[in-house]
Amino acid sequence: TQKHKVVVIGSGNWGSTIGKILAENTREHSDIFEEDVSMWVFEEDVDVPDDGTLRDQLGDKPVKLTHAINTAHQNIKYLPGIKLPDNLIANPDLQDTVRGATILVFNLPHQFMSKTLEQIKGHHLPYARAISCVKGVDISEGTVKLYSELIMEKLGIYCGSLSGANIASEVAAENLCETTIGYDGPPMDYKEPDGSSRDNLIKVDKQRQSKSSPSQLSLHRVPQNYPHVDSALLEKLFGRPYFNVQVVRDVSGVALGGALKNIVALAAGFVAGKGWGENTKAAVIRIGILEMVRFGCLWFPQSVDERTFTKESAGIADVIASTSAGRNFHSACHAVEQGVTVDEIEKKELGGQKLQGTSTTRAVYEFLDKQGQLEKFPLFVFVHDILEKRTTMDALPGLLIKGSKVM
Ligand code: NAD
Ligand code: 13P
Repeated sequence: TQKHKVVVIGSGNWGSTIGKILAENTREHSDIFEEDVSMWVFEEDVDVPDDGTLRDQLGDKPVKLTHAINTAHQNIKYLPGIKLPDNLIANPDLQDTVRGATILVFNLPHQFMSKTLEQIKGHHLPYARAISCVKGVDISEGTVKLYSELIMEKLGIYCGSLSGANIASEVAAENLCETTIGYDGPPMDYKEPDGSSRDNLIKVDKQRQSKSSPSQLSLHRVPQNYPHVDSALLEKLFGRPYFNVQVVRDVSGVALGGALKNIVALAAGFVAGKGWGENTKAAVIRIGILEMVRFGCLWFPQSVDERTFTKESAGIADVIASTSAGRNFHSACHAVEQGVTVDEIEKKELGGQKLQGTSTTRAVYEFLDKQGQLEKFPLFVFVHDILEKRTTMDALPGLLIKGSKVM
């Protein structure tokens, strides 16, 4: 049998952490996976921290990030202080990274996804499978799409999603946590709706979402000499003693939970910045969770399972972690404390890391506005209006009244 070749596309704070997990597992399950995991790195020159061992290995002049990762086995810019396995290989060439890979794990800030997918198109195996760890939504042509869906549409390959209460620095330090993988790929014995079982191209029901996107996707079968990609294989690939994986079929709910919780995290950060305490924060979180559920039910009625938001790590647990310790939370908090915008804090404090909440809030607002549904989402609108300086935190009591009336 053939071994799966696993690659990770993206090497930021979470990208590098997931790369570490994947490389630990491909080494442990080398009967199923090729041991080396290539990680696509958006190449840049980085300063070498003033650390004796690193300076001995890398010198004291700026170096290429790929060189630092492959020599010191550390992402000194985006995940400093964490030792990466030496079978995680940084590669600055995107097309070379994906060539021949049977499992593609996407882990980029959503801002860079469209361009990256364009560059990958035609260079990947037609029968590859993908998992998206990206938190965000794509709004174009009046529809809302999840990144798992964009990957399926742009590359024509099946894509699941991974999301959970997973603050990267904690996972990288191997502190115990859970995650949720949404995967509903075609089973090994998949038959066409008419009962036939053709050799190569198959049609599967896609997790339907926006009204304009097709509900079926033509997929290539993974050749039978590869181990079948299913929940058991994904547990082997992603699960670690410190990273507890639950696989569910609700790909859209997992992806959507990860995207929308960032709006709630910004709201919680604004409240914390004002010093208003835990009760006020709990009030906005409550309204936020209801709006997440409402958004899912309205726009993904055939795919999202409401329980994903309330039962899984990708829902409620991620809201809890992200409204206490995420970058969106901290940045919103600091913005209020310092009287500046969240965008300014992102540039000043995040060292090149990218917030996902601000652009998600703006995208969701634009979509809801076009759909004439703003009044059903008072918290999402409030966060948008704070970001755009259309309102101030003094309007919060009005939000709580609206929030309790709408729900
Ligand atoms: P990050 O915020 O650390 O982002 C920086 C990354 O963007 C770097 O890898 C950088 O090389 C890359 N980059 C910069 N310019 C680029 C360009 N023009 N093209 C392509 N890449 C470019 O990234 P991250 O934390 O790894 O986030 C990836 C995804 O993971 C996000 O959707 C995020 O929401 C999600 N996530 C993050 C965490 C976390 O704690 N960091 C946890 C769970 C999920
Ligand atoms: P931030 O991007 O706000 O840090 O959130 C991280 C996260 O998604 C934790 O699950």
